Amino acid sequence: MAVNWALPFDEKIYPEKGVVVEADAYTRMHSSTIGDYRNFWAGIAHEIDWYKTWEKIIDDSNPPFYKWFAGGELNACYLCVDRHAMGPRGDKIAIVWEGESWGDGAPKETKRITYRDLYKEVNKVAYLLKNTYKLKKGDMIGIYLPMIPELPIVMLAAARIGVAFTVVFSGFGADAIAERMNDAKAKLVVTADGGLRGGKIIYTKQMIDEALGDAATVRDVLVVRRAGCDANMLEPRDRWYHEELAKIPDNARVEPERMKSEDPLYVLYTSGTTGKPKGQVHDTGGYMTIVHATMKWVFDANDEDMYWCTADIGWVTGHSYVVFGPLMEGLTQVMYEGSPIYPEPDRWASIVERHRVSVLYTSPTAIRGWMRFGEDFVKRHDVSSVRLIHSVGEPINPAAFRWFHRVVGRDRVLFGSTWWMTETGGIMISHVPGKAIIPMKPGTNGMPIPGIDADVVDVNGAAQKPGERGYIVIRKPWPGMPLTIHGNPQRYKEVYFSRFPGIYYAGDYAVKDSDGYFWILGRADEVIKVAGHGLGTYELESEIVRHQSVAEAAVVGVPDDIKGEVPVAFVILKAGTEPGDGLREEINAIVREKIGHIATLKDIYFVTRLPKTRSAKIMRRVLKAVVTGTVIGDTTTLEEEASIDEVRAAYSELQKELGNK
Ligand code: WT7
Repeated sequence: MAVNWALPFDEKIYPEKGVVVEADAYTRMHSSTIGDYRNFWAGIAHEIDWYKTWEKIIDDSNPPFYKWFAGGELNACYLCVDRHAMGPRGDKIAIVWEGESWGDGAPKETKRITYRDLYKEVNKVAYLLKNTYKLKKGDMIGIYLPMIPELPIVMLAAARIGVAFTVVFSGFGADAIAERMNDAKAKLVVTADGGLRGGKIIYTKQMIDEALGDAATVRDVLVVRRAGCDANMLEPRDRWYHEELAKIPDNARVEPERMKSEDPLYVLYTSGTTGKPKGQVHDTGGYMTIVHATMKWVFDANDEDMYWCTADIGWVTGHSYVVFGPLMEGLTQVMYEGSPIYPEPDRWASIVERHRVSVLYTSPTAIRGWMRFGEDFVKRHDVSSVRLIHSVGEPINPAAFRWFHRVVGRDRVLFGSTWWMTETGGIMISHVPGKAIIPMKPGTNGMPIPGIDADVVDVNGAAQKPGERGYIVIRKPWPGMPLTIHGNPQRYKEVYFSRFPGIYYAGDYAVKDSDGYFWILGRADEVIKVAGHGLGTYELESEIVRHQSVAEAAVVGVPDDIKGEVPVAFVILKAGTEPGDGLREEINAIVREKIGHIATLKDIYFVTRLPKTRSAKIMRRVLKAVVTGTVIGDTTTLEEEASIDEVRAAYSELQKELGNK
């Protein structure tokens, strides 16, 4: 997505509280952490508990496959659970879970789970995985669960016994699941009968049944009862979670496995424009270090806070900032099951009020959703407990920033837009870089956190001039970076470390202003960000061409008021097929079923040819321009290998063709 709003480079807003430093002072402090970044990060890593300290801060003998804190030993579940359950936080509430049903006659569901409760439950599940399912270090499981407490519990239980997991967002469809299970070679999948969203049941078990027809490595399915719908249990593959747990003594304990720092904690898939989804493998020691550092610096959260990250755990934001971050820090957090507008558009504001949320981590899409329904819905509630806000997932436009800052932030709290990605493991750029806060600018991302050597560079990899658009890179390794792409180290090297040899290429356009603030402008590739979540054009196109009447398809993202971007498709039909709405619906049905509702195509244009460069790359900018009615003028944004004339010709041809329909 290309940002096309004017960036208020010079406007500064000062939060009411906090130690504010100006950008130049921060830059000096930041440089000192970059010079000796190894020892800097080692100092931070010492703040978390290790069974055994590392032998080397980084094993960099085989770049770009870095091993942070090599030789060190720790356990992520121990850090998140045991330490608190056994210490003074035993009776502290770890998770206040709120079910979706609420209001007129519906049963209100709230669960308050203390750190001791969490300890007991996680131990029982770990016992089950280890003894009943015979899973052990080195194995992988799949998790396809809605936002219910069992989701973090199963993740922690797996981490406890050294079993890596891959969570698939519960809105994804059968093909998306099967592809990930196969790539990860998952042996067990944990799912639920169904989930609740927007007052409806999402049939998760049904989706798993469909997916597993194509996923040969999965032997067992463990099913959590949530929605009460038919789960079509298939003996002996499927078993109920509650029945299996009932067989395990309440005081069952499983010693946390001593994991090496460089042992994988989880794999999470990202989609792209080519090839199958990339399984980002995250380590244990480096990952827990970046998550700890950013919890402390960016969220500045402490024992008095009520923390709420609104992200679904199915995305990386939920992994780092619902599960591992807040629990590692011993916080109390809100976890909400369902839709932000159910039963009414004020649901989130009512959650903030009811639980006195003080630290809020949300997304531009959610914020635009609040805006659409208007201020009155927020005003029904007292949201004055909020003292800190961050957003993530896509650029936030200054208008949405100002609205949210006024309506929820009462014009005084710190409100930042943190930049990072699944690959980075934790936040890389923020407004709270360390203990100090730099002044806000509406729409900016702030500056790299200490120890992170991020920059904006030109096509040759040289630092870009202030105000000029370039590519965002990270020059030095950082804790939390992926170990590799699961099963495909070569691809890891190619995608991230070959465009600018040896340094990490993030794939985003950005500009740095003269104060050194970063403004992320959007993806440089064609990953579409729907409601902040990356969808690969490749996966979408592969599904569309499954339709028997389709010969070729190209998908691009177009702007959407609430979701930021939505996919539209250009489709070439096989000879003899008539285009029409029936066909459109059939194509969309495939996309929804196989990838998920999130991927629903806003429009499908039937065309007879697609504009291509000489090397047969689709000219996506032309497709976008035609849909959005913009003029192709900016030569710098054109695809390589096509002259401006060729692009113009393709544009007018396509325009004519669509105009004829
Ligand atoms: C891409 C990564 C990391 C959490 C969620 C997304 C975009 C992320 C911002 C922001 C502008 C942002 C980038 C990035 N992005 N945060 N604050 N401002 N853009 O994870 O699905 O791996 O996507 O999200 O384009 O590359 P992801």
